[in-house]
Amino acid sequence: MGFAPRAALSAAAPLAVAGIALSFCASLGAQPRVRVPLVDQRSVAPYVPMPWHVVDRIMEVVEVSEDDVVYDLGSGDGRILLRAAKSRGARGVGYEIDPALVEEARSAISAAGVQDRVEVREGDFFDADLSPATVVTLFLITSAQRQLRPKLLEELRPGTRVACYMWEIPGWNPSKTVTVPVSGAAHPIYVYRVGSHQ
Ligand SMILES: C[S@@+](CC[C@H](N)C(=O)[O-])C[C@H]1O[C@@H](n2cnc3c(N)ncnc32)[C@H](O)[C@@H]1O
Repeated sequence: MGFAPRAALSAAAPLAVAGIALSFCASLGAQPRVRVPLVDQRSVAPYVPMPWHVVDRIMEVVEVSEDDVVYDLGSGDGRILLRAAKSRGARGVGYEIDPALVEEARSAISAAGVQDRVEVREGDFFDADLSPATVVTLFLITSAQRQLRPKLLEELRPGTRVACYMWEIPGWNPSKTVTVPVSGAAHPIYVYRVGSHQ
């Protein structure tokens, strides 16, 4: 594929991920749901759902429209895809390794009646073909986004927008940075445009 191999995760990685999850939850101030797959060595980020008003802000700043195909890498309960389809008319694809979250997202997608436009695939996003995306959303951690960077460069078409909540893609220059209030703190959203990110 032409991109650097993923760094091997050590047996201690899930504990590190759990620590990151707990500190992140503290920064959210609320009592969010967190799932840390302690046995899945493919996991590069814990499950912490994005606050709904942050999802809405991302839709605005990225200007998601019915012409878009939104890929959410690590799609959790599917909320970004749901919003993209319901409020913007976009199509969406999610990748998620946690089967319980995949099930939850698929139920929500069916309940919302957008299953003709949105699909959640159970699997590792490092194995995904990202080339159909026009928008990619990432709510991961810096190390995961660093590992993803060569794959994004290799597979995304020029002009594709990449929106990251909380953490930047190391070494890329955002075309837009906005903040969103979360529990009294200003949390960043970074938007990159492939082809003009350096
Ligand atoms: C911080 S949560 C974000 C969930 C959702 N995108 C949201 O914003 O609400 C990160 C998600 O990435 C998933 N994940 C971590 N590593 C993954 C991998 N290699 N492939 C697919 N999903 C992964 C986790 O299971 C978790 O659900």
